[in-house]
Amino acid sequence: MQRASLARLAAALALALAALGAVLFLTPWGRSLWSKEGEATIGQALIGGPFHLTDQNGKPRTDADFRGQYLLVYFGYTSCPDVCPTTLQTITNAMDKLGADAAKVTPIFITVDPERDTTDVLKAYASNFHPRLVALTGSADEIAAAAKAYRIYYAKVGEGTNYSMDHSSIVYLMGPDGKYLGHFGMDATADDIAAGIRAEL
Ligand code: NI
Repeated sequence: MQRASLARLAAALALALAALGAVLFLTPWGRSLWSKEGEATIGQALIGGPFHLTDQNGKPRTDADFRGQYLLVYFGYTSCPDVCPTTLQTITNAMDKLGADAAKVTPIFITVDPERDTTDVLKAYASNFHPRLVALTGSADEIAAAAKAYRIYYAKVGEGTNYSMDHSSIVYLMGPDGKYLGHFGMDATADDIAAGIRAEL
């Protein structure tokens, strides 16, 4: 193949990848219940990655600790008035629907508000939800790195102690090898999540 046509092929490939990326990341997440990136290895490559955080019992946790488990990864914050508690309750209900298979799944809640969400705050909050829930916090930098790995947007809104956090609300399903399998949007029900997980087990 000639160099010029190789360059054209490379340009076309780059364009195709960029378009796929746009579809993956500009999709109105809130309306998508379950998106599986079966053949799209680009999605698997782009979502997830190493994190170094601390759980609600004060124990350091990294992504490597969870190999062998399916993970439901959700970012939010404990002062969130509606979306976060609703989503965590939906995850809890999905875990209950999985029965014995729930032992293969670890739901992970990562705070985007490490300033207020200390390990003690997370411990009290997590006790409202599924007993397998792991709630993680860390330094501002550690949280930023984890959010970046999972393509999560978050931003502080307001001043003083009553500020809120804007944040993406996506439940990621990660495989036992740590690779991205798909995600659930805000409208996903417990049945949707349980079915999505069951399809992968
Ligand atoms: Ni929230």
